[in-house]
Amino acid sequence: MNKRVNICLISVLIITAVFLAACGSNSGDASSPLRESKASAPQLLEPENHAGGIGWQKTNCISCHPDAQLEDIHEYSSMLSASFAKISSTETGACLYCHGSNGIENITAETYDCMLCHENREIVPWYELFSHKNKHDFNGNDKMDSSDCVTCHAFSDMNGKIDAAIDFSKSGSPYATTTDFCLNCHDGNGAFGIMPSALDFEKDSTNIYSTFMGTGETTDTQKLTADIHGVKDGYGQSFGEFRGSYTNSMTVPCLACHLAHSSDNPYLITESGKTAELTDADAMAASVSVTENNYTQLCAVCHKSDDGALTENGLLEVVHNSTFSSNCSDCHYHGSGFGTDNSNLY
Ligand code: HEC
Ligand code: HEC
Ligand code: HEC
Ligand code: HEC
Ligand code: HEC
Ligand code: HEC
Ligand code: HEC
Ligand code: HEC
Repeated sequence: MNKRVNICLISVLIITAVFLAACGSNSGDASSPLRESKASAPQLLEPENHAGGIGWQKTNCISCHPDAQLEDIHEYSSMLSASFAKISSTETGACLYCHGSNGIENITAETYDCMLCHENREIVPWYELFSHKNKHDFNGNDKMDSSDCVTCHAFSDMNGKIDAAIDFSKSGSPYATTTDFCLNCHDGNGAFGIMPSALDFEKDSTNIYSTFMGTGETTDTQKLTADIHGVKDGYGQSFGEFRGSYTNSMTVPCLACHLAHSSDNPYLITESGKTAELTDADAMAASVSVTENNYTQLCAVCHKSDDGALTENGLLEVVHNSTFSSNCSDCHYHGSGFGTDNSNLY
């Protein structure tokens, strides 16, 4: 391994949040985090970037950069570096995704061919993320493909770790959390030319941003109008109990309840209690299945009553004092606390 790569690796380890532009030979536009994060991968945007033109507009990268060398260079991510030797040497789309166009024309998202590796169990451990029934499918072709991927992952360093500031950098300003990233699009205006549809459950509000963050000018009015799973503080428990270390006055991240890519449950609801990171071991081990808008198995991952009936995923239901139907979403859904009417809760 050459020395420069070595020094870079060390800085990558130390500075995990933001990759230093100084690492690559290309320092990029310092004011844009997207450029900064991409700058850790040298960009081939002008002939002189590519060994004074020697490699410019060439497509067969492996002919001059053999596998062994590539493995060494990309040692910062052992799975990524091992992946290059497992695909055909003519499949160089992934190189261009990280390294820029190299002067090659007509590059589209499909050129990058994300699925070549991401659906291959020999290459990645989670090759089944995208094939479930309901999908985050922006282009409406009923499958997740590269153009969907790059809408959310404009760039990824593929180091095996999701970092909101690096792996979701398209807007140009970094996100602190994945929830902020979701809300950038589900806010009634969409993002990157993509617009989610209005809500099915709450007609008074058309978007999740308003129901989750609340509306109004001040923090107080926002808290009043928001969902309890969002920024509003709960009222405390009487007949219910929290599992694990969930407590009142928390904001629950979207990905505690939803999957980012695809799910066999409607509304991309999670398929397992594992996504609820603060719950107890029993609930983490439980599966979650939703049929006909019955969300009991999901709610039971974090809520229970000790005298509750067993849910089909082996947890305990919440029992209300009064006789209520068991279909939680009749009363509890995104936006049911919307407005100043607090009789409904979510
Ligand atoms: C005809 C030979 C040749 C081909 C084909 C070629 N390169 Fe290069 N490339 C070089 C040489 C020579 C260098 C400079 C020495 C080095 O860093 O290995 C270089 C350097 C690079 C660099 C580092 C640039 C920098 O700023 O430090 C990257 C990244 C790169 N090549 C990527 C690619 C990709 C991606 C492809 C395929 C699209 C490719 N190369 C095809 C010869 C080639
Ligand atoms: C996930 C993004 C990613 C992909 C995919 C990727 N690279 Fe890289 N590449 C990087 C990063 C990051 C560096 C800088 C590594 C460092 O400095 O430690 C780099 C460095 C390089 C270098 C420059 C080494 C140097 O400093 O001289 C070459 C050459 C290179 N890559 C070629 C390729 C080729 C060819 C492919 C496709 C087979 C490829 N890369 C795919 C991220 C990527
Ligand atoms: C709606 C935006 C969105 C789209 C579209 C999207 N991703 Fe993701 N991706 C995410 C989020 C958010 C995470 C973080 C998941 C988590 O922390 O549980 C993630 C995580 C990942 C991971 C890490 C594994 C994991 O579950 O944490 C991989 C790999 C990945 N995405 C690849 C892809 C590929 C390939 C595509 C295209 C087929 C794609 N993504 C499309 C938002 C998206
Ligand atoms: C050549 C194979 C290959 C291709 C093509 C590829 N990836 Fe990856 N990607 C990987 C590997 C391997 C990892 C896992 C690294 C690990 O877990 O250590 C990964 C990880 C990821 C992650 C997880 C976040 C992270 O930092 O590790 C995301 C997101 C991702 N890739 C997005 C994409 C997108 C988007 C595309 C298409 C534009 C794509 N990948 C194309 C091999 C590939
Ligand atoms: C680029 C914009 C964009 C981003 C970012 C995004 N979404 Fe979406 N989301 C959409 C669109 C568009 C749809 C509708 C897709 C469809 O109907 O196939 C959708 C659908 C959904 C649905 C299903 C709604 C339904 O009516 O079936 C859920 C749940 C959801 N998104 C949650 C999330 C979460 C959680 C995140 C963050 C990880 C996120 N979204 C990030 C655009 C986005
Ligand atoms: C018919 C409407 C309705 C249905 C259906 C319903 N709830 Fe409730 N829920 C309420 C109301 C109203 C409250 C406020 C407390 C009260 O007045 O009983 C509440 C309070 C709660 C609380 C707060 C617990 C506490 O100790 O204060 C939890 C947790 C809860 N519900 C979960 C659920 C779950 C899980 C389901 C499905 C199994 C469900 N609810 C079904 C109306 C409903
Ligand atoms: C990932 C864990 C998690 C899941 C899953 C979950 N909740 Fe909650 N829930 C919480 C937390 C944490 C709070 C407290 C938030 C606060 O006070 O700011 C809460 C609060 C509530 C409250 C208000 C209780 C109060 O103290 O005022 C109701 C009602 C409720 N949840 C119903 C549901 C229903 C119905 C479902 C299923 C559709 C559900 N929850 C799924 C974690 C969860
Ligand atoms: C406590 C669990 C929970 C959390 C946290 C959560 N959701 Fe949901 N989400 C649900 C449930 C249950 C449904 C289906 C019933 C409904 O619409 O509320 C749903 C539905 C949706 C829908 C479709 C709504 C409709 O009526 O068409 C979207 C979009 C969505 N969620 C996005 C998000 C986003 C974005 C976040 C984070 C800001 C988030 N959710 C946080 C549980 C959750």
